[in-house]
Amino acid sequence: MRSNMGLMQIFILFCVLSFHSLAISAIDFQEQSNLETYIVHVELPESGTQLSTTNSSIPNEDLDSWYNSFLPTVTASSNDGPRIIYPYHNVFKGFAAKLSAEDVKAMEKMPGFVSARPQKVLSLHTTHTPNFLGLHPNSGFWKASNYGKGVIIGVLDSGITPDHPSFGDEGMPPPPAKWKGKCEFNTSVCNNKLIGARFFRHGDGSSIDGIGHGTHTASTAAGSYVEGANVFGNANGTAVGIAPLAHLAIYKVCTTSSCSESDLLAAMDAAIHDGVDVLSISLGGSSEPFYADNIALGAYRATEKGIFVSCSAGNDGPSSSTLSNEAPWILTVGASTTDRKIRATVVLGNKEKLEGETLHQPKDFPSTQFRIFFPGANQSDPNADRFCTTALLNQTGIKGKIAVCDIGEIPLLDKEENVKAAGGVGMIIINPEEFGYTTSVDAYSLPATQVTYADRLKLIKYVNTARSPKAAISFKGTMIGDNHAPAVAYFSSRGPSQASIGILKPDIIGPGVNILAAWHRSVENNPNTKSNFNVISGTSMACPHLSGVAALLKSAHPNWSPAAIKSAMMTTTDLVNLAKKPIEDQRQLPANIFATGAGHVNPARASNPGLIYDIEPKDYIPYLCGLNYTDKQVGLILQRKVKCSEISNIPEGQLNYPSFSVVVRSAVQKYTRTVTNVGEASSVYHVQIVAPAGVNVRANPTMLSFTKVNQKLAYEVTFSPSGSANNIAVSQGSLTWHSSNSKYSVRSPIAAIFQAVGL
Ligand SMILES: *[C@@H]1O[C@H](CO)[C@@H](O)[C@H](O)[C@H]1NC(C)=O
Ligand SMILES: *[C@@H]1O[C@H](CO)[C@@H](O)[C@H](O)[C@H]1NC(C)=O
Ligand SMILES: *[C@@H]1O[C@H](CO)[C@@H](O)[C@H](O)[C@H]1NC(C)=O
Ligand SMILES: *[C@@H]1O[C@H](CO)[C@@H](O)[C@H](O)[C@H]1NC(C)=O
Ligand SMILES: *[C@@H]1O[C@H](CO)[C@@H](O)[C@H](O)[C@H]1NC(C)=O
Ligand SMILES: *[C@@H]1O[C@H](CO)[C@@H](O)[C@H](O)[C@H]1NC(C)=O
Repeated sequence: MRSNMGLMQIFILFCVLSFHSLAISAIDFQEQSNLETYIVHVELPESGTQLSTTNSSIPNEDLDSWYNSFLPTVTASSNDGPRIIYPYHNVFKGFAAKLSAEDVKAMEKMPGFVSARPQKVLSLHTTHTPNFLGLHPNSGFWKASNYGKGVIIGVLDSGITPDHPSFGDEGMPPPPAKWKGKCEFNTSVCNNKLIGARFFRHGDGSSIDGIGHGTHTASTAAGSYVEGANVFGNANGTAVGIAPLAHLAIYKVCTTSSCSESDLLAAMDAAIHDGVDVLSISLGGSSEPFYADNIALGAYRATEKGIFVSCSAGNDGPSSSTLSNEAPWILTVGASTTDRKIRATVVLGNKEKLEGETLHQPKDFPSTQFRIFFPGANQSDPNADRFCTTALLNQTGIKGKIAVCDIGEIPLLDKEENVKAAGGVGMIIINPEEFGYTTSVDAYSLPATQVTYADRLKLIKYVNTARSPKAAISFKGTMIGDNHAPAVAYFSSRGPSQASIGILKPDIIGPGVNILAAWHRSVENNPNTKSNFNVISGTSMACPHLSGVAALLKSAHPNWSPAAIKSAMMTTTDLVNLAKKPIEDQRQLPANIFATGAGHVNPARASNPGLIYDIEPKDYIPYLCGLNYTDKQVGLILQRKVKCSEISNIPEGQLNYPSFSVVVRSAVQKYTRTVTNVGEASSVYHVQIVAPAGVNVRANPTMLSFTKVNQKLAYEVTFSPSGSANNIAVSQGSLTWHSSNSKYSVRSPIAAIFQAVGL
């Protein structure tokens, strides 16, 4: 792989283990020639041709010939010379092309040229979750929202397993008349559930999902009901997506674990044209300014057309500033746990219990105690093989014992192979400190379990003090009711946003740990069923949950804008776990606002938020100018000419966003917000402010009195340093409008950032 290709990731953890191996499995795009795929942005000519207008209704053929004019004429259509591989019509003016460095140099001098850079390789980043989210069959919001009926969710991912029962169309209405998509399958396998499937250039020439990720995310968003869904008998129940009556349109942009940027843009181009209502994107790259972030550019165009864009936040937590997909027109989704555990408990020789998790629960494993093999317990031995690498194969001492393996170095399933080959009878995977209490379930064939960091410490202490350390593994199956849930997963990427620190990101969290959903093959090697499921983790799994919720809200409120839907989700979240304590992170400490964003999604409350903070596409222009982008950079995002000097720029805090992220300065900061009444016509709201430490927060007025539905009222909010901030980096609070009839609480989280202290 070329060194100049950045990596984008599909935000799945591949059962946590294989995330170490993601980078090596990127597609090799290298050709024999010196050509590589560039993403080229152009502008329309100023005048003198039939394109001399900024009107977006230019015929595609005219755009294509304009694009072609940038290529060396002789070889423009040749198959091995420089050539356009995708002309883009909807995401932006530009194209993907095979070019040499010389071709690009020549292009740079041409009028209309804006930018060209090599494409990135984007490497790939439920039975129970509807219930956990408070969605119950035949009642409440699920019924009221008609289960997402009439809404089309476009899933940009690794394709689909079309004959999986999760994509059966029993009870599904035909697609809406506006649908213009295609079903690019060999045989006609599309139906009223799976209404479209397209593949792009760098794949294997089909829409079939070869890795399971796309099948999993699509079924999470809008899978049909499948009874008796389970893996190895665990997590058994009726699998169903969040919006079971929504349609699915599949755009395959990833194979193995990587995705090409040119394909992704072509897919967004197609999805905008085809008429999707929601885009679900569980992949991304690292943080970049929005004009250089092609997912952000495509998402802006989609948002302009009223399409809701939901993206995974990334799996680079728990460190700060590790987000991707940060643009304010995108919903950025972090991952949290659910209350379901698939238990495998380690019982130590001293009777102490370590509560772990595993997917495969062998019925015949004796509950007797085995000796423990754990060279890593000697922490003063730097050469001890903690990771159960192949070095284990030379160890004789492991035979008949339970091996303890640290996470890292090699994939978990390789550790299992080594333990097996060396004669071990079982395996305990121990979390490093960073993982904390986030445990994942994996489909080991060896009796095994993964335990928390706290239990790792107990285990080390025990092994170092016991004369003959022993353990048993006791398999307990599926258990519901972990009252620490929802807790933020260690891997969930954290804010603050690097691209725009004045917008709080992630926006929200949703279920993304140990999610059961459809899979492309049997993880149990059962050839007799198409009804295959798997349990996997990642912000990739959280994103389609929110895409499904967006579909429900869209179905319930067809006139709400993407920003209104987002506001409704963000101002109505849950802030406490099942134990009624503030939502925790992977350390079981109260989670930081840059881990949770506005909090955990509550679909039913989101449907009836009382007030919304709406944003029209044009409102982003003064915001983008305020980021000090050049006219050209803003023009790239908007796809038309912009003169920031003629626009009254606004600071980030002035965008009508449903949350606040304030970099505290000595000067007073004053912003206005406008809320739209979507509750009862005649209603009165009073403000309640919980000021973050170190900041004074005031709202004016403190009461809003509405007389009509859809009436808009503005208020002003000021932030000033309070002097009580002693050496803190961040603090958090909230501003909430409570309706006097107690029906509505419209809460905006406030993050305060003290840059002098550093993060
Ligand atoms: C763009 O073209 C359409 C259809 O030809 C026309 O109705 C519209 O007014 C044009 N818009 C601009 C900004 O020229
Ligand atoms: C369609 O399927 C048949 C049989 O599986 C195969 O021989 C053929 O190559 C396929 N065609 C395409 C376009 O994929
Ligand atoms: C799953 O649950 C269904 C319904 O309760 C039951 O009929 C089925 O046997 C269960 N399957 C497994 C593998 O436990
Ligand atoms: C731990 O490792 C150190 C360094 O290799 C070694 O000197 C010591 O004997 C080991 N302790 C035990 C209990 O094996
Ligand atoms: C195992 O031991 C042999 C002989 O000492 C050595 O050549 C080999 O490299 C060892 N293998 C590993 C994986 O350490
Ligand atoms: C943009 O530039 C102005 C003036 O230099 C500065 O005050 C402001 O903080 C900058 N905004 C951002 C987002 O960097």
